[in-house]
Amino acid sequence: MPPPIWLMRQAGRYLPEYRRVRERAGGFLDLCYDPALAAEVTLQPITRFGFDAAILFSDILIVPHALGCDVRFDEGHGPRLEPVRERADIERLSDGIGDRAAPIFETVARVADALPSDTALIGFAGAPWTVATYMVEGGTSRDFAATKLWAFNDPDGFQRLIDKLVAATGDYLIAQVAAGAEVLQLFDSWAGALPESGFERWCIAPTRALVKRLKTACPEVPIIGFPRGAGPMMTRYAAATGVDAVSLDSAVSAAWAVDALQAQWTLQGNLDPLYLVAGGRAMTEAATAVLDTLGHGPMIFNLGHGVVPQTPPEHVAALVETVRGWRPAGASR
Ligand code: CP3
Repeated sequence: MPPPIWLMRQAGRYLPEYRRVRERAGGFLDLCYDPALAAEVTLQPITRFGFDAAILFSDILIVPHALGCDVRFDEGHGPRLEPVRERADIERLSDGIGDRAAPIFETVARVADALPSDTALIGFAGAPWTVATYMVEGGTSRDFAATKLWAFNDPDGFQRLIDKLVAATGDYLIAQVAAGAEVLQLFDSWAGALPESGFERWCIAPTRALVKRLKTACPEVPIIGFPRGAGPMMTRYAAATGVDAVSLDSAVSAAWAVDALQAQWTLQGNLDPLYLVAGGRAMTEAATAVLDTLGHGPMIFNLGHGVVPQTPPEHVAALVETVRGWRPAGASR
């Protein structure tokens, strides 16, 4: 049997139907907070490609926004946030997410109602470290200097921000499950920016705390961790955090991951998203290589990172066909 397939950022600007809804909504955050439109956009790639899972259309920056941080997505720029640089900035944030994220949970409920019963609904959040980098840097960063210097110089002070994010993210994910999310993914997109000691404290420890709370509140919900760029520290991440599946970025050797992880963890990944832009034989061969390596154990086919805006939708359709047509070697023998 071929593995299930869904793609990170499967809803988004590469789809003309997304761009039309996005125009109607106005800003990106307006789209995230409009349950009818956000549900429509979540379902677009399911309707078009028949993926095995839908991922809630939202953003990892909803949590800081719900905590009262000013978050903007201006055209042509990445996100911009009001920087959090010291204790007083943390204290200005709300105690919890309050009911500001209620429209997101309403989106989850609408999608859960509309999805075919054999299509999973994935909820998600950013992991505390990654969300903290956006809050401290005030947006995307090249070197994470402000965040790392705070964490290195004043770990107890930075810990307060992380603790706040662990609590808020737990509330946020538990509410997504209550609304109908069946699987959760934690995006730690900037895990690879940390040295080993920092990785233990700022990626693993907060994720472990979050997973522990989720496993108490909703033990039946599988959790996929995506510690992007963590390399061989992924084995420690998987063992120490308690996640059920590990999402591999494209730089991870799939063969290494099979040996290091697949006996205990489902592996998700890890086609380079640019193969989906290239299309044709290059894409088919690369996807088949991923399947031939990861597909003999528990696996979810995905990319190593999100679909990029210049991706031709026909290439996505061809990828789904390749994955669905794949059979493990030996199956026909
Ligand atoms: O995967 C999905 O289809 C679900 C939706 C989703 C979005 N963002 C929609 C989005 C998910 C799971 C995310 C996660 C996210 N957001 C991450 C983690 C994954 C990763 O990419 O590493 C991060 C770091 C963010 C923060 C973020 N949001 C950035 C840096 C940007 C700007 C860059 C860009 O591509 O424009 C966003 C905006 C964003 N989030 C868009 C979408 C579809 C584009 C907004 C638009 O339509 O203009």
